Amino acid sequence: MDVIVVEGGARLKGQVTVSAAKNAVLPVIAACLLTGGECYLEDIPWLADVDTMCGVIAELGAEVDSSGGGLRVACRDLASWEPPYTYVRRMRASFLVLGPLLARLGRARISLPGGCAIGARPIDLHLKGMAALGAEIQVDGGSVVARARQLKGTRIYLDFPSVGATENIMMAAALAKGTTIIENAAGEPEIVDLANFINAMGGRITGAGTRVVKIEGVKELHGARHAVIPDRIEAGTFMVAAAATGGDVLVNNVIPNHLNAVTAKLAEAGAVLTEENGGIRVTADPPLRAIDIKTMPYPGFPTDMQAQFMAVLAVARGSSVITENVFENRFMHVNELKRMGANIVTEGHCAVVKGVPRLTGAKVAATDLRAGAALVIAGLIAEGVTEIGAVYHLDRGYANLVEKFRSLGANIRRETR
Ligand code: UD1
Repeated sequence: MDVIVVEGGARLKGQVTVSAAKNAVLPVIAACLLTGGECYLEDIPWLADVDTMCGVIAELGAEVDSSGGGLRVACRDLASWEPPYTYVRRMRASFLVLGPLLARLGRARISLPGGCAIGARPIDLHLKGMAALGAEIQVDGGSVVARARQLKGTRIYLDFPSVGATENIMMAAALAKGTTIIENAAGEPEIVDLANFINAMGGRITGAGTRVVKIEGVKELHGARHAVIPDRIEAGTFMVAAAATGGDVLVNNVIPNHLNAVTAKLAEAGAVLTEENGGIRVTADPPLRAIDIKTMPYPGFPTDMQAQFMAVLAVARGSSVITENVFENRFMHVNELKRMGANIVTEGHCAVVKGVPRLTGAKVAATDLRAGAALVIAGLIAEGVTEIGAVYHLDRGYANLVEKFRSLGANIRRETR
């Protein structure tokens, strides 16, 4: 079992380069199933979730080659319409192969993703979308079975701008007959990246990034080459860590617009952010000021940055109110932060964080990916040694996290126990 050991107190200094976005690369790999042509994805972040998605499409019959710097995928003949349960159980995003399988093979059978630590996370909107496109959907023995002779373009209104549902519907509709309009679609940068990839394959998608996405179905898509966007959540994590430690860090390979909510909130808390040579430089003189945060679909404040901000607000001057509007149970990190001395009270989907003078190192456990990142940040600012267990959560979404923090001067190491 691996643990991450952090000795607090070091100010982060230097430059760090962000990897390609996990949440962009996963749907893009799924979208490779839409064509028999060869696709090449540049700058892949080598993460556990990427391995899982590669495993899923390989089981479905794709040839996957990661021997170069990027990922070469060819899905000439799909051998199966059922990704194995072992993969789907491991990662909810496996469900993103539903749309491509339906579009390409006219059928799919996928286990229902189980309950997840950060909330029930149903898939009703994905299924509603597929049904609207003409698929017949049944739930049989814990799996969704979907069938369609020919998907047909239609208008779909999403009750909530779900990222995964928007992506699944976009992929299915790309090969449907006629035009599909998704209303109240998610507008995250990862949606735009997926649309750009599908368009590079010969698809016809417009409006991605806005609340209304239009997909004109085409008969066939071809192979394409694509460079995935940088990971705005990884960037945000380093920015918060820099501010929390009173450091001076230039975060490279970012698209500043994707980080507007994060930079606005860090600045409100007293950090100084400047755009420099295509990166964002963050300096701060802690303690930061308390601020209120409400998570929202993009361009609102990202739920995936909520835990990291909570860690730094735990030692801010004053009381902060954090409202989680995207997931119903995303405060698992609160108890771990409290074990380090934080003063946090939760009530429903609100958390009141009363800043304390200092956190102290403790043995804690990552409860999910971003909770793990929050504990690393808490460890960096705590007095003494923090030992973070359940590190596999961090491996799902941060490439070389320990090495990157070490290069910034953090006292952090990984140990196998
Ligand atoms: C994606 C991201 C995740 C991020 C989340 C919100 C990936 C691989 N993961 O997850 O990191 O935290 O967006 O920005 O890109 N919902 C339904 N019915 C559905 C689908 C979703 O009710 O059919 C609800 C969920 O329970 C949740 C909310 O909608 O409360 C947002 O979920 P969604 O946007 O779908 O998140 P994911 O695509 O799972």
